This record gives sequence, C-alpha cells and structure tokens, in this order.
Amino acid sequence: MITPRIKTILQDVAPLTNLTVQGWVRSFRSNRFIALNDGSCLENLQCVIDFDSLSEELLKKITVGAALKITGTLQESEGKGQRVEIQATEVVILGVSDPETYPIQPKKHSLEFLRQNAHLRVRTNTFSAIMRVRSALSFAVHQYFRSQDFNYVHTPIVTGSDAEGAGEMFRVSTLDAKNPPLDDNGAIDYREDFFGKETNLTVSGQLEAETYAMALGKVYTFGPTFRAENSNTSRHLAEFWMIEPEMAFYDLDANMDLAEDFIQNVIQYVLTHCEEDLVFLEKRLLEEEKQKPQNERSEMPLLEKLKFVVDQNFVRLSYTEAIEILQNSTPNKKKKFKYPITGWGVDLQSEHERFLVEKHFKCPVILFDYPADIKAFYMRLNEDKKTVRAMDILFPGIGEIVGGSQREERLEVLEERMTSMGVDHKELWWYKDLRKYGSAVHSGFGLGFERLVLFTTGMGNIRDVIPFPRTPQNAEF
Ligand code: 4AD
Ligand code: MG
Repeated sequence: MITPRIKTILQDVAPLTNLTVQGWVRSFRSNRFIALNDGSCLENLQCVIDFDSLSEELLKKITVGAALKITGTLQESEGKGQRVEIQATEVVILGVSDPETYPIQPKKHSLEFLRQNAHLRVRTNTFSAIMRVRSALSFAVHQYFRSQDFNYVHTPIVTGSDAEGAGEMFRVSTLDAKNPPLDDNGAIDYREDFFGKETNLTVSGQLEAETYAMALGKVYTFGPTFRAENSNTSRHLAEFWMIEPEMAFYDLDANMDLAEDFIQNVIQYVLTHCEEDLVFLEKRLLEEEKQKPQNERSEMPLLEKLKFVVDQNFVRLSYTEAIEILQNSTPNKKKKFKYPITGWGVDLQSEHERFLVEKHFKCPVILFDYPADIKAFYMRLNEDKKTVRAMDILFPGIGEIVGGSQREERLEVLEERMTSMGVDHKELWWYKDLRKYGSAVHSGFGLGFERLVLFTTGMGNIRDVIPFPRTPQNAEF
C-alpha cells in the first residue's frame, strides 16, 4: 500500500477521515503527541493519540526513531505550532528503536558526532534539509543543460590517463599487492594487470568529454571524481562529484558567460523549490555564527546571499590585475597572508582568493589568463606565450568553485606543452587525434558539486554536504 507523504498531507484541507501515514518518531511528549517525519519535508506531522485506548506495552514502543503506521482523521489543530494534526485511531509499530542506544535524540548534536553517525545523521533536520537541497541542485543541473541543448555523456571512471597531470590518483589494480609480477628491470609489470596497463580512478572526465564535444557540439559529464591529494581541509574530498560541460566553437568569453549563467540558474532553482529547507538552514547558520567573533561572521544571511549571487554580475579580471590588487593590499603589506604575494607568477592560495571576493570586490569573481606554468597542459596558450586562457570562479566563503579554460586546439602548441610539462604523449594519442581531425576552438569548465552545495546550504565543512565523505584516513560506511 502506498500511503500519502507528510508533505502532501500538510497541504490537505481538514477534515479528512481514514487517513494512513507512515514515518519515524521525531519526538513523543505527554504520552499523547507524536511528531512524525517521513523525510518528505522538514515539518513534522503531529499525531495525537488517546493513550487510554492503547496498551501499556504498545505505548512503551513509541520512542524516538521508531517507525510507525498511523491511521486517523486529519483535523484542524487546536494547539499552536501546526495548522493540522491527525487524531489517531490506530497505531501500528513497524519497527522499534531502542531509546537507550539510539544516537539521534531530539537535542543538539555536534556536527562531528553526527559525522561519526553518517548512516543516521540524515534523520536530523539539518542533514535532511542539506540532502534535499543537494538532490534539488543535481536535478537543476540536468534541467539547465537540457534546456541549453547539451547532451549528457558518461565518461569512464577507470582510466589510464591523468587529466590534470598532478599525479594525485588512486590506482586500480587486481595484482597481488604482496607479490606483484615484476618486469626485467624489477618494476611492477602492469602488462599482467587486469587491463594490461596501469590504470586509476579518474580525476576528471574532461579529456573524454572533449572527444564528444568535437562530435555532438555541446556535452557535459556529471559524475564522481577521485583525488589522492592529502589535503585535510574543509574544502577537499578524496571522492567528489564534478560537473564538466565541454563546448565546441566556444571561446573563453563564451565559456565564462555559460558558467555564470549556469550557477545563477541552479541557485535560483533551489531558491524557488527549497524555501522551507533554506529558511531552516539560514536560521541554523545565524545560531552558529553567534558563537563566532564579529569579524568572522558572514555579512549577509543565507537567502540574501543566494539572491545576491543570482542577481549580480560576477566581476571579471585577469590574473595580472588580481596580483596587482593583492600585492598592494593591506594584509599583504602588513604580512597577514600566510603566503605573501611576492610577484607575478605565484599560484593563488585560498586566503588570496577569499580576500578578493570577500573583502575587495564583495562579489563572485572570475579570474582569467593565468600564468602557463601553474596551469594544466591542455589550456590554450596566449599570444604573450606566458599566460593561458584559464578561468577560475571564486566564491565567498568557498574560494575556487569552478576551474576551466579554452582548450589548446593547435596540435604543435599542444605537443610542445605536453613535452615541457612531462605529459605522456603515448597515453594521450587519442586526445591529440582531436587536433588532427577537424580541430576547432573549444572550451569547458569543471564545477565542484560539493562546493556548490556548501555555498548554497551555508555549511562550513564539505564533509557535511555529501552523504558519506571520503577523506584521508576515513572511508567508513
Ligand atoms: O580546477 P580543477 O582541478 O579542474 C579540472 O579538473 C578540469 N579538468 C575541469 C574542466 O575544465 N573540465 O577542478 C574543478 C573543480 C574545482 O574548481 C573545485 O570546485 C572542485 O572541482 N574540486 C574539488 N572539490 C572537492 N574536493 C576536491 N579535492 C576538489 N578538487 C577540485
Ligand atoms: Mg582548479
């Protein structure tokens, strides 16, 4: 039997007789009022029971976390706090929950405690709200690209190439780790491995997406990516989801236009469809910020911040202009940056990105034309031969949320860059083929999905916006 969801019931007009609902007990007070939640929305449904008609034994089983089936009449509520409630005529215990050991009690739990109980934390208001917003955002991503005539491609998870050339990969192998086959030089002989070569989990679907863009024109991938970088920060995961559009005949300007429109569109989607959850998350954030010193609090409440990003044009400036601003900035002169800006060519750290966005421009920023030396081999070299057509989008509280570029479409230039950056030509023969057969200007970017969820929900740690985070030393669940 399919019973209606609480979200629908809360919109119903009372009275309605003989209604059956199923859900989990969030709280039970005065042996009379059950707050029932089924995950369909934040709000609980109040179910009123007449305890004289229930046996002592059954009453004892109505504890926090228990699964119940309740039948009764929906009526206007006399109490405060809810419009309607169910006057129960029948209560069936579907699954008990031991109150002595159930970790999720109706009180405030620390986020750290909830991370240790990631299999149960989605039963709290905070995590159910986050995960509903996450789900809505991923739906909005597909809807956006569909509306813009993109094709969704499934790029491989197991690959032989290192798309970013950063060497941060997880190996995929079926060889006996204790006793691997060796070649004549004493090195591990991957010819005997499952795929007959060295393979790893992908760090990005971009290179394969490029092959499809050069046939279907506009494509995107949206899948898990893996990075074995040992960064234990609140912005890094070892397994995260990335959205990577790739477009033939798009130059860097068109790429930036698309990225900005895309981000604004998906945030607008959740503003429209997830209001209840966002209002709750805004309140949660305000409470949390009361504990922080004044200067560390965000300047805008969550919803206002989201609306601001949707309405505002992002500031666009070159890396060179950004370096000038940073070099002359007060924190740089007063030696407040952990990594001082010494001159042109240095890589920007998150403290610099956040200074630009949060203090200087107070607005999302797109930086472009980065030094070639600090960016990946596939980015298009500018006429100055020093910079590449890269772009990063920087967000308040987050830092880099998007990394992208116009791609190098000239075979000779690409080959030179590959050689000088030590990229394996043999492995990427197929990638070079794209520059031999019908090469054309093309561009794309990657948006870290969890960083987007982090921004949208106002959470502070990336571990709290993915169901089961994978980080160094942690792969529980
Ligand atoms: O800047 P990145 O490394 O770019 C690429 O991978 C390109 N191949 C994308 C493309 O042009 N198709 O990563 C893109 C985004 C970052 O801006 C960041 O938001 C996110 O992916 N990201 C991470 N998110 C969570 N944990 C990590 N360890 C991340 N590394 C990158
Ligand atoms: Mg990047």
